[in-house]
Amino acid sequence: MTTLEKDKQYLIQCYTTDDIVFTNGKGMYMYDEGGKKYLDFSGQFSACTLGHGNEELIEALKEQLEKLVSVTSCFATEERAALAEKMIEISPDGLDKVMFGCTGSDANEFALKVAKYYRGGGRVISFRRGFHGSTAGAAAATGKSEMIQENSGISELLPRGFVHSAPPYCYHCDFGKEPGTCGLQCLKYLEQTMLHEGGDRIAAVISEPIFAAGGVIVPPKGFWKGVRELCDKYGALLIFDEVVTGIGQTGAMFACQYEGVTPDILVTGKGLTSGYVPGSAILCRKEIGEAMGKISLHGHTHSCYPLTCRSALKNIEIIERENLVENSRVTGEYLHEKLLGLKEKYDVIKDVRGRGLLQGIEIEGNSSADKFVLGQELYETMLGNGLITELESRKNLENVVVVMHPALITTRENVDEAVEIIDKSLQSCIK
Ligand SMILES: Cc1ncc(COP(=O)(O)O)c(C=O)c1O
Repeated sequence: MTTLEKDKQYLIQCYTTDDIVFTNGKGMYMYDEGGKKYLDFSGQFSACTLGHGNEELIEALKEQLEKLVSVTSCFATEERAALAEKMIEISPDGLDKVMFGCTGSDANEFALKVAKYYRGGGRVISFRRGFHGSTAGAAAATGKSEMIQENSGISELLPRGFVHSAPPYCYHCDFGKEPGTCGLQCLKYLEQTMLHEGGDRIAAVISEPIFAAGGVIVPPKGFWKGVRELCDKYGALLIFDEVVTGIGQTGAMFACQYEGVTPDILVTGKGLTSGYVPGSAILCRKEIGEAMGKISLHGHTHSCYPLTCRSALKNIEIIERENLVENSRVTGEYLHEKLLGLKEKYDVIKDVRGRGLLQGIEIEGNSSADKFVLGQELYETMLGNGLITELESRKNLENVVVVMHPALITTRENVDEAVEIIDKSLQSCIK
């Protein structure tokens, strides 16, 4: 059997959509078993911050493997303490306590527990089109109804008490308004939702500062300041899920820094370790963290492994030394400009959105193509032409968005190559 045949025969095919077997990677490129080269503009779900095969990071991991790998969260290690200190240094002021996890999902799960514990229960409000992970609480907060929520069997596993408000999605405004003159109806709706669901008994509002998987939805200016004020007014904790947007992906260390809004709890993962080993973190205000320290109702065997901490520490060291957050901002702006150029050329591109190296293009159909068919064809053509992206395409949510979150090491030349492939692929898909 070939690798692909074996994989199909034995593996539960939850996510697999593409018949490609990858064998190795270096920098911005990945190679399949036939030796074909792919430019990775997905960053493998945005985790691969330093690109593939970073030798300095690999060396640090090898050294750590030989030194010490398995230490449960019961004990302190030099690596864990150093990473805790570093995380507090790089995060917004006011977040002074940290806890580590394995994945974005379990870190969100912990954030939700923290909020419920600290607030003594209460509803959790999130947004439609937001994504927070695959474990029960994180999935319940996720606002994509065709996923777990709509599966009659699995949905029984979801906890109650999660409510989804209207997303700040200007391109598909739920209120039919235009940006700039909308009076932030989505914010007003959020307040109504909060009042309806318990007012000052709400536990938390959780959201991504930019909705990545939902189609790179960048909320309008003032939205997050308004949400912060509402949370303060009703005593709810504000949780920012920066699992994708954190660690430089949007051109700031954390995307919430763009609007100067500090959450009560911040969650990060994926790019924290550059994806070389699994790892995530939650940061919170001191009094919240100290209240949590008094109970032990959360922890995973691998949560604080020194190997994870070492990977994150080395990753952050390289990011800071090489100015990669700034590179994400500057190269991201260049990518944005080039994508706007494509929008001028192709009328099926209706919107280009994003910050730093998190960018998305919203696709609409034309007289000869349904947008969902076009989106799928475009994604596959780009892949065939050697460009890895992600496709957000959901009929019930009505949007088709090509999502890109390449590594922070992306250069202008990489952008030129990617945009050339998108251009060529669009040309062959549009009849
Ligand atoms: C915003 C966001 N939060 C949480 C998660 C879950 O992270 P993980 O897949 O590491 O559990 C994801 C995964 O894509 C995500 O995009």
